[in-house]
Amino acid sequence: MDLLKNRVGSTTSYTSLANDLQVSVHTVKYCSVCTHQGAPMVDYYQYHHTTYHEKTFHIDPSSFLEPLIRHLKPGDKLLDVGCGSGRDILWLKGHGFNVTGFERSKGLAALARKHTGCEIIEGDFQTYDFSKQKFDAILLSGSLVHIPHAHLESVFGHILDGVGNGGKVLVSLKEGDGSSVGEDGRAFFYWQDTELRNLFAKHIFRVLEFHKGTSKVNKSDIWLSYVLA
Ligand SMILES: C[S@@+](CC[C@H](N)C(=O)[O-])C[C@H]1O[C@@H](n2cnc3c(N)ncnc32)[C@H](O)[C@@H]1O
Repeated sequence: MDLLKNRVGSTTSYTSLANDLQVSVHTVKYCSVCTHQGAPMVDYYQYHHTTYHEKTFHIDPSSFLEPLIRHLKPGDKLLDVGCGSGRDILWLKGHGFNVTGFERSKGLAALARKHTGCEIIEGDFQTYDFSKQKFDAILLSGSLVHIPHAHLESVFGHILDGVGNGGKVLVSLKEGDGSSVGEDGRAFFYWQDTELRNLFAKHIFRVLEFHKGTSKVNKSDIWLSYVLA
């Protein structure tokens, strides 16, 4: 947060998002991860889609996708919500699944289309009507890490409208307490295993698979990963 504060150039507040992220977001004069200036740091993933793609696309997702596909059958319809540049879609497509992506960043959506050849819906998962189509599984791989604690339950419940009868959900979040804001302006919200299990139970989901592991990008981050039914 200090780094973010040091870089702000005006007091123009992006109130609704700031409220949502529980941080103060101002017009950023100097971006800390590239050379763009004067643009609001409200969506890291839009401004830095190439950087994010280069940092994450090469990661082998087998260890977190295999526990999900153990509970699916070839041809099943999957929706990867917050799909980034398509790494997981590509892997799942290669394993015989029929995958659609969902992404808010236009830049990442375009990269995901280019790399996977799959349909990528552009939208905001907080407002999109997921009840229009039912999927055999929905992936939320790191996609909810920026959702403040007070909103996670409703956002999660909203996205579940897209899960068909007997459908599965893959969800991963970072372990810890409280929240942090990184040098690049992204706010992260941390969770304990028991809090998440309580939340899943409220939505009548049981845990089929659980894995706790170190991030492949940042060794100090611990990911809690669940397959739910
Ligand atoms: C931490 S990244 C995870 C990306 C990918 N699932 C992965 O594992 O690399 C979060 C992703 O969710 C997307 N995202 C965040 N908020 C979103 C929203 N409200 N609607 C749609 N996508 C969103 C971001 O653009 C980004 O691609």
